[in-house]
Amino acid sequence: MQKTIAVFSTKGYVRESFRRVQEASSEFQALELTFFEPRLNRDTAALATGHDGVCIFVNDLADKPVIDRLHEVGVKVIALRCAGFNNVDLNHCQEMGLEVMRVPAYSPYAVAEHTVGLALTLNRKLHKAYNRVRDGNFSLDGLLGFDFHGKTVGVIGTGRIGQVFARIMGGFGCRVLAYDRFPQPELAAGGLFEYGELATLYESSDIISLHCPLTQDTFHMINDYTLAAMKDGVVILNTSRGPLVDTNAVIDALKSGKIGALGLDVYEEEGDLFFEDLSNQVIQDDTFVRLQTFPNVLITGHQAFFTREAIDAIARTTLENLLACPLAPDHPNSVRPTRLVAPH
Ligand code: NAI
Repeated sequence: MQKTIAVFSTKGYVRESFRRVQEASSEFQALELTFFEPRLNRDTAALATGHDGVCIFVNDLADKPVIDRLHEVGVKVIALRCAGFNNVDLNHCQEMGLEVMRVPAYSPYAVAEHTVGLALTLNRKLHKAYNRVRDGNFSLDGLLGFDFHGKTVGVIGTGRIGQVFARIMGGFGCRVLAYDRFPQPELAAGGLFEYGELATLYESSDIISLHCPLTQDTFHMINDYTLAAMKDGVVILNTSRGPLVDTNAVIDALKSGKIGALGLDVYEEEGDLFFEDLSNQVIQDDTFVRLQTFPNVLITGHQAFFTREAIDAIARTTLENLLACPLAPDHPNSVRPTRLVAPH
């Protein structure tokens, strides 16, 4: 029997990857996909009427009212086409009998490599150099960077992405100091990094990169207090989830010079901005606009995952999840409330 799925927040590249993967494998043709451009929220949930499931992305919202509406219109499954699930009220899904599934891994390389790209660009000011040279300005003033070699890199979250990032930074000759709420000692034993306390990581790191999920514990983990504990001139990278960072606190730390550079692929209030072309509009988010004014801040619009390999892997795993549902409770792609702060 065909399962019908309403796919929200779809851009051309999403539709193309799903079609490509569906065409490559006849089993996936048992899934009938309807693509919708809008994000899932209270206003758009009714679009799912007549579908067995919805497929959503990072800035779709499945809070209580949305889940109630989805339940009312007969939806039984929420398939996230991403790893994070902080935008879904898992307890309420369980209460209403909605299954939630995700794509825990698609290409950790995509995200880790983008994070390194942010670090290198900020350190060697490649974004400025590009414009200068195009403008016939070959002055080096203001472009001075530092060697990564020999520096200490703090990695918070040693899951799939954190491990790849640690390996790349180790390749530069950095000392990698890691913290994870659920450490995997075998990784440290293998020499990939050393585990330490979070306080030690904050104190000792020249570069700090966030690779942990957004949970109650990690919300605003970069704040006035933790920033004060860091080295002057620290480089902070966040390619995980915007609310890990208290934006007002980093703005103050950028103004005082405490933060030497900030690379973001995610932003607390990105839901109103990212993935859309707003180049003809006035951005109303003054905090975001203030962030953009700093010469040592580089922001990308949640594109770290965006490689060919990753988007096809996302489509394939999403379709496999939907075909296989209901997933066994211990299936790694099944998301249940108890997994919120579980290791993987
Ligand atoms: P993962 O689940 O493999 O690893 C997350 C790690 O964080 C685990 O080792 C876990 O034990 C650890 N952790 C959990 N709570 C923690 C805490 N309180 N403090 C420190 N560590 C904690 O996840 P993966 O695949 O490495 O992804 C990491 C994050 O990257 C995701 O949660 C997601 O938010 C983000 N992401 C961003 C993308 C982008 O395009 N910018 C794409 C994919 C993921």
